[in-house]
Amino acid sequence: MSVLHKLRSRQLRRLSRCYSSEDIFRFHPDQPVISDHRVLDEHDYQRFVSRRAAAREPALTRTMTSLAYKVGRQMLSLAEGMPNEGVFPFRHLQLTTTAGGTLTIDGAELATALQYVPSQGLPCLLQQLREYQTTLHRPPPLPRDVLVTCGSQHGIHHVVELLLEPGDPVLTTQFAYTGLHSALRPYHPEILGIPEDADGLVPARLEEVLHARARKGLKLPKMLYLVPTGNNPTGTVLPEARRRRIYELACQYDFLIVEDDPYMFLNYDEPAPPSFLSLDSVGRVIRLDSLSKVVSAGLRAAWLTAPAPLLAAAERLQQAELLHPCTLSQTIMHRLLSDRPALSSQLQSARELYGRRRAALGAALRQADPAADWTEPKAGLFYWLRVRELDDIYNMVFNTAFKRGLMVVPGQAFLFDTNAPCQYVRLTFSKIKMEDIDTAARHLADIIEDEQKLRLQTRAASER
Ligand SMILES: Cc1ncc(COP(=O)(O)O)c(C=O)c1O
Repeated sequence: MSVLHKLRSRQLRRLSRCYSSEDIFRFHPDQPVISDHRVLDEHDYQRFVSRRAAAREPALTRTMTSLAYKVGRQMLSLAEGMPNEGVFPFRHLQLTTTAGGTLTIDGAELATALQYVPSQGLPCLLQQLREYQTTLHRPPPLPRDVLVTCGSQHGIHHVVELLLEPGDPVLTTQFAYTGLHSALRPYHPEILGIPEDADGLVPARLEEVLHARARKGLKLPKMLYLVPTGNNPTGTVLPEARRRRIYELACQYDFLIVEDDPYMFLNYDEPAPPSFLSLDSVGRVIRLDSLSKVVSAGLRAAWLTAPAPLLAAAERLQQAELLHPCTLSQTIMHRLLSDRPALSSQLQSARELYGRRRAALGAALRQADPAADWTEPKAGLFYWLRVRELDDIYNMVFNTAFKRGLMVVPGQAFLFDTNAPCQYVRLTFSKIKMEDIDTAARHLADIIEDEQKLRLQTRAASER
């Protein structure tokens, strides 16, 4: 039996011991959450919402569209600027699933799927998402709601628009998802990047930063953005105790937690820790969900969950920006989420597929030992490698590796200051052909070795 095959079967056995098929939908703690802190009210949220976002008002026409969906179709309406369904060119849509099932959308469902809907989302999908969040996360009861978005990148953009003023301090991990930086850049924020260790963001370091700012009378951040499970790029998973501590700090220092969780189902070794949403007893969590990594990225199937006053403000942004996300996509999403057993096996097979790839790249990377350091990611899609002896890998990535036909992402991509020197590279195992993984790792090992030799020669020449 090959090493890879052994690894794979060991891993699959471990996974099936850890998870039952319904466990894949469990993101709440065993015990209900109790907090001594005060629940935020409408008035509290006013200080979080940016001036720009607060200036937005609901469009009357959009309010009428929402009303039309709420009261049903028996109204005599001369009001709505919707197209007549008679002009739609499709009568029947049929999709065959990879599992062999058939998804047919026709009649009234198809007519709605081709029509304008309320900005918050397709009503039947919204209802389904509310129930889905309640079942998966069992959040403490508070007025919350969901908003359908076009991917969680869209949710990040909403959050930044919703909360930030130019120059505001923003908390995040030291290395963070590039899409956050793209959304933030025009605001010229003060980035407070908190270091991570093998278990993700270190709460003690977060506390140091907050404590020091409070002591110096500096502006305190309104938001902490993090990817709690399978951080992009570091692959870390925050354990429950850290999540609880970070939540406590949010209450103490009065900030909101933006939980971006697209890798929640790609937790390879153990059932997922409780989500921040599940711990949110006072209304400090904005949660972003996405089906991009485990169902389809092109559907842009995602949603934002937030305390009701923040969600209403986000919906106003959505109205102005795009009226609503694609209804056809929302209809497909609704169908996918309706069949829980099929969804469960889709998610499990996605996790198994990536699990095998993670193991394959992990085994192949031994060729880069001891030139680089890394640990196997606990969740998500990325290996995060520190290259020894080099202060900066930029030249290695863009010159040496690129010329030899190998693409990896330089660590700078995950810093707000993309010009800063960085020793890390991010490797993704999601899409490369399985048969190419070993060759790619060998090339990487050779390239690192060559760069290290070059660096030693340059150093020796300059010391001469
Ligand atoms: C942490 C994180 N957030 C958001 C996204 C974007 O996801 P979506 O396709 O849902 O917009 C990605 C994609 O790589 C990601 O890694």
